[in-house]
Amino acid sequence: MTNEELYEIASRVRENAYSPYSHVKVGAALLTGSGAVYTGVNVENASFGAAICAERSAAVQAVGNGDREFIKIAVAVSGSRVKSPCGICRQFLAEFSKDLTVIYEKNGALTAQKLSELLPESFAL
Ligand code: THU
Repeated sequence: MTNEELYEIASRVRENAYSPYSHVKVGAALLTGSGAVYTGVNVENASFGAAICAERSAAVQAVGNGDREFIKIAVAVSGSRVKSPCGICRQFLAEFSKDLTVIYEKNGALTAQKLSELLPESFAL
């Protein structure tokens, strides 16, 4: 699966985002070692802190299905200036793979970066 194909899946699923408060729609598509692709969207809540990001939503789907070998994740964000994963999501994903490739839009073009580059000093126990 190419980066472009994975990003296309993230863009399509983004339409299912539930974001009546921020109006920012985010879709994520996560490719795992089994070859399966898990998707997620941001889901907001009237209790703002209860919102979950698209990336964590996708990661939770994968782990729940016993797929913990994260290979690459594409994130498609509408309506924000910076479209890379937030700090909480970086730390959340680092739990499973620091070698994960993160695909996102930067200055109008797709870019791919290692999670270890986006979060060089992730917390670990
Ligand atoms: N959001 C994500 O889904 N992923 C991120 O990495 C950053 C932010 C969502 C959360 C919230 O619903 C909206 O974008 C605005 O912050």
